[in-house]
Amino acid sequence: MFDALKVHAARIVDRRIGSLFDESRAATFSAQVSDLLFDYSKTNIDAEGRALLIDLLDSADVAGRREAMFAGAAINETEGRAVLHTALRNLDGSPVLVDGQDVMPEVLATLDRMEAFARAVRGGGFAGAGGPIRDVINIGIGGSDLGPAMATLALAPYHDGPRCHFVSNVDPADVAGVLRRCDPATTLVIVASKTFTTIETMTNARTVKAWMSEAVADPGAQFAALSSDLEKTADFGIAPERVFGFADWVGGRYSMWGPIGLSLMIAIGPEAFRAFLRGGQTMDRHFRAARWDENVPALLALVGLWHNQVLGHATRAVLPYDNALARLPAYLQQLEMESNGKGVAMDGTALTADSGPVVWGEPGTNGQHAFYQLIHQGTRVIPCEFLVAARGHEDDLHHQHQLLVANCLAQSEALMRGRTLEEAKAKLAGKFDGAELDRQAAHRVFTGNRPSVTLAYPQLTPEMLGMIVALYEHRVFVESTVLGINSYDQWGVELGKELATALQPVVEGRSAEGHDGSTAGLVAHLRKNGL
Ligand code: F6P
Repeated sequence: MFDALKVHAARIVDRRIGSLFDESRAATFSAQVSDLLFDYSKTNIDAEGRALLIDLLDSADVAGRREAMFAGAAINETEGRAVLHTALRNLDGSPVLVDGQDVMPEVLATLDRMEAFARAVRGGGFAGAGGPIRDVINIGIGGSDLGPAMATLALAPYHDGPRCHFVSNVDPADVAGVLRRCDPATTLVIVASKTFTTIETMTNARTVKAWMSEAVADPGAQFAALSSDLEKTADFGIAPERVFGFADWVGGRYSMWGPIGLSLMIAIGPEAFRAFLRGGQTMDRHFRAARWDENVPALLALVGLWHNQVLGHATRAVLPYDNALARLPAYLQQLEMESNGKGVAMDGTALTADSGPVVWGEPGTNGQHAFYQLIHQGTRVIPCEFLVAARGHEDDLHHQHQLLVANCLAQSEALMRGRTLEEAKAKLAGKFDGAELDRQAAHRVFTGNRPSVTLAYPQLTPEMLGMIVALYEHRVFVESTVLGINSYDQWGVELGKELATALQPVVEGRSAEGHDGSTAGLVAHLRKNGL
């Protein structure tokens, strides 16, 4: 599927990205949705390469599958489910049919219930045993944590509700650290779990319920649940009026637009949450309507395929020059790697190309003082994705924001431009000479020609965050469709879960059931030391 692109890539392998720039390149190799600009001109993609990449979309019938997704077809074929997180942000309520039934009345009714509850929590109409709610603890993991946790941090400037805390890890240090900061009498606990069976979440939920029972007569009254299993939430003792359900066609890592976003809604308020949904909807409309060479999610996906599957760069760094997006890389790790980290295609046959890349990153400028050394001079090329806002939320410190932006733009320029041996020598002339000048200069050479893309936007508002998250969701969809992957299941997490259950009696010393020598040796060492 990538043959023609690989032939093209071999022809241009030594071409400098910088040599592609004429007065029109920046404009022709960028695209825009509303105020969000996507610049991919600092890659080695030229007009021919882009045309070949767009051919991939047509041969994989991305347009057909995109419409099937929006129309509620069961495109999650291994689980026989529709994929309709887009319905959660379909604010105008136009019909979306699953098995002939319009799901929108239910979606909008749940949104209304969430809003009423969020208003009550924020306004004091819903209170704890000790008065108005001051803290909200969201207990969830994976998609039931990373989305709301990332977005709650990203939209901190818009917080005007109770403080929100996120507990995810089964490590008791996580829950204990949060409980130390909260008063049970004024805390609302939200148990977020699509399945309501996830061991980490249910263990933490029981721990928090026990903590609350010590101080509050009716702890269940200060619990809410976000789940698609309403029987299990009832068994846990959470009254139906505080249970916010969603259908199985909302995948865990795509779920923050619905009930799983409740903690975010309580933090920023229903109006700002709706703005977040509106941003997602704007991206959906663009994705469905824009032609491929102007379609930002499709282009972002094609750049990803070009770097990973065609050129073989196995990782991509996500580098937000926007500190509020500190958890975006972690969020994208689940979104992209749990979705597209698969070994087989939809029909069960082995993939003929590499699966999705390793995604990682940190906000700039912190990363510059940590791993950028390797990005600039390491032997492997790491395509970078920069995100940067024109304005922060600290108007009085705008000059400091300008320094941030200068750093962001400087990095992508430096990656592309590099520094030759001659330039390095010229900088050192006068300090060294002869062989020592050659030796010292060699350390200061940057090969350059390293690709990056940049997403630039006016400010990280709720609406803009919605656009960015939906952009990445659609990128995953496009990449998976070209690769033939089902990005909506996650069988790869099952084996570890099964073995953890089997090991529980062994680590507790109740069983000596045989495991491999290494595992048995580690258990013995830990038990000797207090396990
Ligand atoms: O890690 C596997 C997974 O199923 C994720 O896909 C999901 O987001 C997470 O566990 C949590 O699942 P749940 O919301 O059912 O607790």
